[in-house]
Amino acid sequence: MKFFIDTANLEQIKEYQELGILDGVTTNPSLLAKEGIEPMEQLKKICEIVDGPVSGEVIGLKTEEMVNEARELIKIASNIVIKIPFTKDGIKAVKILEPEGIKTNVTLVFSQNQVLIAAKAGATYISPFIGRLMDSGQNEIDMLKESMKIIKIYDYKSEIIAASIRNARHVIESAKMGVHIATIPFGVLEKMFKHPKTEEGVKAFLKDWEKLQTQLKKK
Ligand code: E4P
Repeated sequence: MKFFIDTANLEQIKEYQELGILDGVTTNPSLLAKEGIEPMEQLKKICEIVDGPVSGEVIGLKTEEMVNEARELIKIASNIVIKIPFTKDGIKAVKILEPEGIKTNVTLVFSQNQVLIAAKAGATYISPFIGRLMDSGQNEIDMLKESMKIIKIYDYKSEIIAASIRNARHVIESAKMGVHIATIPFGVLEKMFKHPKTEEGVKAFLKDWEKLQTQLKKK
C-alpha cells in the first residue's frame, strides 16, 4: 500500500520523507490556507522534498478554468497531480487533461456511482472521503470496499486513494481490502507508529543491559 501524507506543512512532510515511507502528498485549499504562504510557492517547496505525486487542487468551477489552472499548475514540477472536484465540469476537465498526459485526482467523492464515473473518465486517482462519510453516519468502509470491487472487476487503471482518514483503523481497513493508497494526516501517522508496549519493551531491554554492564564491571 502506498502512503501519501495529507498536509501542506513542510516540516511534517520532511519528517515522513526522511523516514523513507512516504510515496506522495495530497493538499487541498484548506490545508494550503493553514500554512499562510502563496499556494504555488508552497507546492513548489513540497515538490522539492518529495519525488512522488503531489496533488494541488484547482479553484475554478468551470471546465475551462480548471483546464487552464491545471496547465499552469503542472509547470511547478513534473510530479504535480491536478486535484479536481467531482462535478460535471470536473469530469469534463479530466477527459480533456487525460490525453494530454496530465495526471488527475478526482476529489470530494462520496459514492460508488461517482467512483465509477471518475474511473470511466480516466482519472489517475480517485479520492473517496471516508472520514466525512463516517461523520455523516454512513458506512464508509462498505463504500470503499464496493468501490474497490468496481475498479477491480473492470480493471480500471484509476488508483483509489482512501482520503479524509480520521484514525489508524481507517488505514488498516483500507489496507485489508487492497486500496491502492491511503492519504494520511500527520497525527494519524504518529498514532500508527506508537504502541505503549514497544516503548515499555525498549526501556526494559535497556535497563537489563545496563544491569549486565554493572555486573560485568564488578567481576
Ligand atoms: C484528500 O485528498 C483531502 O485533502 C482530505 O483527505 C480531506 O480530509 P478532511 O475531511 O479531513 O478535510
